[in-house]
Amino acid sequence: MDSAQNCCLYPMSLSKVYGPVFTLYIGMKPAVVLHGYEAVKESLIDLGEEFSGRGNSPGSERANKGLGIVFSNGKIWREMRRFSLMTLRNFGMGKRSIEDRVQEEARCLVEELRKTNASPCDPTFILGCAPCNVICSIIFQNRFDYTDQNFLNIMKKFDENVRIGSSPWMQLCNHFPVLLDYFPGSHNKLLKNIAYINNYVLEKTKEHQESLDINNPRDFIDCFLIKMEQEKENKQSEFTFENLTITVSDLFGAGTETTSTTLRYGLLLLLKHPEVTAKVQEEIDRVIGRHRSPCMQDRSHMPYMDAVIHEVQRYIDLIPTNLPHAVTRDVKFRNYLIPKGTNILISLTSVLHDDKEFPNPEVFDPGHFLDKSGNFKKSDYFMAFSAGNTNSILWHVGGDDVNVSLDLVHHSIRVGHVAPVLHAGASVSANHTVNLFLDFH
Ligand code: HEM
Repeated sequence: MDSAQNCCLYPMSLSKVYGPVFTLYIGMKPAVVLHGYEAVKESLIDLGEEFSGRGNSPGSERANKGLGIVFSNGKIWREMRRFSLMTLRNFGMGKRSIEDRVQEEARCLVEELRKTNASPCDPTFILGCAPCNVICSIIFQNRFDYTDQNFLNIMKKFDENVRIGSSPWMQLCNHFPVLLDYFPGSHNKLLKNIAYINNYVLEKTKEHQESLDINNPRDFIDCFLIKMEQEKENKQSEFTFENLTITVSDLFGAGTETTSTTLRYGLLLLLKHPEVTAKVQEEIDRVIGRHRSPCMQDRSHMPYMDAVIHEVQRYIDLIPTNLPHAVTRDVKFRNYLIPKGTNILISLTSVLHDDKEFPNPEVFDPGHFLDKSGNFKKSDYFMAFSAGNTNSILWHVGGDDVNVSLDLVHHSIRVGHVAPVLHAGASVSANHTVNLFLDFH
């Protein structure tokens, strides 16, 4: 078991001794750990406002300077979040809905996979390109070709940053921030990469400004520029170039790696469970058939597929201790007084792997989300996207057809209808890349 897994299981084992709410000193600072469905629900949902603060993360603070959505707080967080959600959900930007963009990308993804000609391949790169490109298409209007040098550079910087961000060194820096300022190390590379991405977004923004038509916004950047124009007399406005850059970079950062890793593990689990793949295939053939592309409307007729997607997310438990939270004011929680600003560590694992809600939680079983008649069964314990005010599911569902990344999972699993007859095995290597053979007829 690697150190990252150990680190996530540690609060689990402590909770057996200290109960569902306890304080853990990590480095110099205390954090309150919340463990189990009841404690997580009471905090994130019942006291959503109080627990919606973003916890202290010095590495990200150096990079984002408290701007954007993911690592901001208070007024900036509220305004950037409200604007971005509204823009992504309600606006069919330009002439095309987000579903169109997802479908186009899914077709390119299938095409790229087809080129592997059923020979062994590591699909990590291709599966990373697809979600990144959907976000590009929303933010910069157009997708990039998978060989475009600008696109490859951005992908590389994000990829490096995910690796550096989750390295033991970066964890150490976050707990002893003085290291960030006085020591050499990979954190400098992380900051350089962020500066590169920010510069690229700024360049794109300038191009957008030159061709902006306020009556016909083409993408997210246009919408932001229009909002800046509307607020130009307001000295306190948060709609600035700095916030635009960090918000865009946040959407990439939050949406790319999460979705591509889910896709990768989804494929791997299908390979490992041929009985599940056969049922998915049967449902695809029955509901969609082989002559048209899948669309969002199909989802409600595909309970098994829905259950598989939920189960993949539950089982892989992608963000075990959530992003760090903090309380926004002094809070009385159960019998404790938690002072304003205290970091809160939320164990999503303890909810996703609750053995009363999901019998045999360590087993991959879509039956966890199906009732006796085979209908999809919702569960309040499905917190892969967290819950409450910062719930990431909000970023997927909106309007009639917006479901940016889950749809991609859908589509690529539905690659099945052209069809992953997986004629050989799959394996996960030490660095979590998946090697597989895909045979598309
Ligand atoms: C399988 C895919 C994904 C998973 C499992 C996932 C999971 C999460 C989790 C656990 C959080 C932390 C929530 C919290 O602090 O309570 C988060 C935050 C966030 N996610 Fe996702 N996410 C995914 C995809 C996406 C996508 C596609 C986008 C948008 C393009 C996105 C945008 C965000 C944003 C903006 C935040 C910060 C929310 C806030 O602070 O209010 N995520 N995500």
